[in-house]
Parts: sequence; structure tokens; C-alpha cells
Amino acid sequence: MTRLKTALLADKVVVVSGVGPGLGRSICLEAAAAGATVVLAARTESRLKEVAAEIEAEGGTTLSVVADITDEDAVRNLLARTLETFGKVDVLVNNAFSVPSMKPLARTDFQQIRDSIDLTVLGGLRMTQTFTEALTESKGNVVMINSAVLRHSEPRYGSYKIAKAALLAMSQTLATELGEKGIRVNTVAPGYIWTDQLKWYFGEIAKKYGITPEQVYQQTASKSDLKRLPLPDEIAQTVVFLASPWANSITGQTIDVNCGEYHV
Ligand SMILES: NC(=O)c1ccc[n+]([C@@H]2O[C@H](COP(=O)([O-])OP(=O)(O)OC[C@H]3O[C@@H](n4cnc5c(N)ncnc54)[C@H](OP(=O)(O)O)[C@@H]3O)[C@@H](O)[C@H]2O)c1
Repeated sequence: MTRLKTALLADKVVVVSGVGPGLGRSICLEAAAAGATVVLAARTESRLKEVAAEIEAEGGTTLSVVADITDEDAVRNLLARTLETFGKVDVLVNNAFSVPSMKPLARTDFQQIRDSIDLTVLGGLRMTQTFTEALTESKGNVVMINSAVLRHSEPRYGSYKIAKAALLAMSQTLATELGEKGIRVNTVAPGYIWTDQLKWYFGEIAKKYGITPEQVYQQTASKSDLKRLPLPDEIAQTVVFLASPWANSITGQTIDVNCGEYHV
């Protein structure tokens, strides 16, 4: 897919927490293509450097900071490094993800649920609390990455759903509480994302059922209106839109990006 070059985030400093090979990478690349300076944060330095190099190869500006969003000092350091390097923060995107337990709730260890809440909910809140003063100065905004798990209650997604449902509740309250400071808080809820990870997974399902990966794709995509699965860059472009001045009157909202799999 050709990356759309826009000026939607011209002169903006965008911090992305939880930059991995999937959506996190796409959000960074799309924000940079929209003119933003991008601060990349996660625990694996080598990945941050890889994504930063892709942005810089296109002429973009980046800062990579190793940070665990469950660690108070690391998050404070991320803010300090951003401010000392670029002087401001306009957008915070909370994307961090770790694979959920995928067991029925009846057999889910409480510690797995706690870990999930600690990362998704308290990690997102810690980031938002720490960045609130800087975002107040810039009249900035926060985009939380949620999931289509909000829209279904399929077995084995319980621990993930508990964390993402709480993240949505928290995001809506933050929109109300931070609105008077001029800070917007919005949510993007992707369904399937056509990443390398999902390609691998469809390959495994195909082997198990003796069909082709293309058939797995067709069967999955047939449940959506557009009969295809969204690309990571398409989801990232929705994040860029919500983060941009074109969404200046939008707060407390959720945009589902799922090719029409669920209607809300
Ligand atoms: N993948 C999907 O199909 C899908 C579908 C719907 C919604 N989503 C949502 O989309 C978002 C991105 O998912 P993705 O699979 O594409 O992930 P990704 O962007 O490829 O990677 C997310 C990254 O978060 C980082 N992370 C985990 N724990 C962290 C911590 N404590 N502190 C800082 N960073 C941390 C990890 O990097 P380090 O290990 O280096 O820290 C990981 O690589 C998630 O919020 C997910 O819930 C994904």
C-alpha cells in the first residue's frame, strides 16, 4: 500500500508507547508521513531503532526511548527526554500490547488478568497522567488503541476483554475530566489486522484443517462488509486523523476499523 503523504500532523510531536512490528510501527510511519516528529517507546531498543531508521530514511525526525510503561520512573524519563529534545508533546498514542491468556475465564489465572490490566489500563493511565501537563500546554490529545473484542464476547477472550473494556471506560472518563484543559481523548478499535503475525496464524489454521491460507482469509473476511481484512496502515491512518486538527471537535469517541465486521 502506498503511504499517503499529508500535512495533517505538521509541526506536531507524537509520542507512541508500545512500538512493535505490527500496528505500533505503522502508527509511527503514518504519523511521520503526516509531518509529525515521532517519539518511539517500548522495551526493545533494537525494534525502536529499526522503525526510527525507516522514518529517517524518508527524511523524518525521531527520538527512541526505551521505556516500560508499567514503570513510573521509565515513563517520567520518557516525558523528560521528549521535552528536552523537542520542547513539547502534542499527541500521545497508547498502543502497548502483550498476548493475552486466551483461556476460558474459568481457567484463567488471576495473575494473568492482573498483568493485562496493569499493562493496558494502568499503563495507559500512567502515560496519560504523566503527559497531562505537557498536553495541557499544547492543547493536545490522546489516542488509545483498543480492540473489536469490545464488540463480541467470544470464549477465551475474557481476560483481554476485561482489560480493553476497562480501557474504554477509562478513556471516556479521561475525555470528560481532561476536556476542560483542552485535551481530547479518543479510541481506535481495530478488528483483525492483516499483519505478518496474522498471516502466520492463518497458515497454522490452514494446516490444522487441511485447507489453504487463502481459504482461511476468505472465510474470515466473508464476515465483513468489504470482504477483506484491514491493513495496519489503514488503522494507523485513522489514528492520524483523530490525532490531527481535523478531529478538533471529536473527543470521548471510538472509531471501529474493521471493514464493517461489526456495526455499532
Ligand atoms: N494484532 C491484532 O490483530 C490486533 C487486533 C485488534 C486490536 N489490536 C490492538 O492493537 C494494538 C497493537 O497490537 P499489535 O499486535 O499490532 O502490537 P505491536 O504494535 O506489534 O506491538 C506492541 C508492542 O507493545 C510493546 N509493549 C508490551 N508491553 C510493554 C510495556 N510494558 N511497556 C512498553 N511497551 C510494551 C511490545 O514491545 P516490547 O516488548 O519491546 O516492549 C510490543 O511489541 C494493541 O493495543 C492491540 O490490543 C491488535
